[in-house]
Amino acid sequence: MIFEQIATGGCQSYLVGCADSCSAVLIDPEISQVDRYIALAARDGLRIHYVIDTHTHADHFSATRAIAQALKVPVVMHRDSPAPFADLRLQDADLLRVGNLRVQALHTPGHTADSMCLLLDDRIFTGDTLLIGGTGRTDLPSGDPSALYDSLFNGILKLDPALRVYPAHDYKQRGFTTIAQELASNPRLQHSDRLDFIQMMEQLDLNAPTHLTEALRTNMSGGKSVAQLLAEAASKTPFVSLSELRARTLAGSADLVVLDVRERDAFDAAHIPGAVNLPRGQLELRVNDVLPDPTRRIVTLCQFGKVSTLAAATLRELGFLRTSALDGGMTAWQEAGYPLEQTG
Ligand SMILES: [Fe+2]
Repeated sequence: MIFEQIATGGCQSYLVGCADSCSAVLIDPEISQVDRYIALAARDGLRIHYVIDTHTHADHFSATRAIAQALKVPVVMHRDSPAPFADLRLQDADLLRVGNLRVQALHTPGHTADSMCLLLDDRIFTGDTLLIGGTGRTDLPSGDPSALYDSLFNGILKLDPALRVYPAHDYKQRGFTTIAQELASNPRLQHSDRLDFIQMMEQLDLNAPTHLTEALRTNMSGGKSVAQLLAEAASKTPFVSLSELRARTLAGSADLVVLDVRERDAFDAAHIPGAVNLPRGQLELRVNDVLPDPTRRIVTLCQFGKVSTLAAATLRELGFLRTSALDGGMTAWQEAGYPLEQTG
């Protein structure tokens, strides 16, 4: 077995391959690491056949869809998953064959209704059903403490005590644990009476995870996160450095249009000398009047350098093929002490 554990912050993803056939499965990938998973598989001589989410994640952005599209392989989830893009929906006890490996799905609702654990030889990937020294929370959409009790005490905790437990989250880089270790020391598992366990879970009073609404929106729909949208725009756009733009504006480059896409009041208060204002919200409406010559060199800018990237990508799509975005924004320009102008 070829095994890689990839930690991204507290998220744990796993690439598991069959050494004989070089086929592999990727479990719980996170969106910022798409290149890393594909590069690791290539480095290890593996071809990924399945991309699996153990459940609908509420706390990070799943990369299953992006990787499945890039590699033309199925997204695998439990049959109760709300994600419309899940290609292969597993039921309890279903097996996936990955070369000589067998990955068995165990339906373990509780953290979410669509949670599953994945059993593979000497190890079990527990998603957020069982964590090292903890369990997944049950207060988010489709969570159910009574179901979690059954999934744990009448389910995975009855498996071989020597099984290695690899969870979807661990913030302390502990790698893995075993069923026996968790039974002995996991504080939540000491509540082995059902009502006691349910009461303990209901009294946890946890903060909502950061990005909860955006993570659920994207993971349940297959839509993009704002960061993904910005990254895609940035991948289609060249940039111009602050110092280069300053040099060109100082030289009074006649060919250059400095296009400030902030709102009018921000522009009026302070802008780069000679800049033209066309707010992002009016870009498509007024572009033909403000930029009649599509052969001009355009540099877009905004306050922080993000909206200007979207604007540059839109302009390039519209045929302004010499558009770049400022690498940075007005905040960076001001911090650098570069010249400013006010309207009026
Ligand atoms: Fe989760």
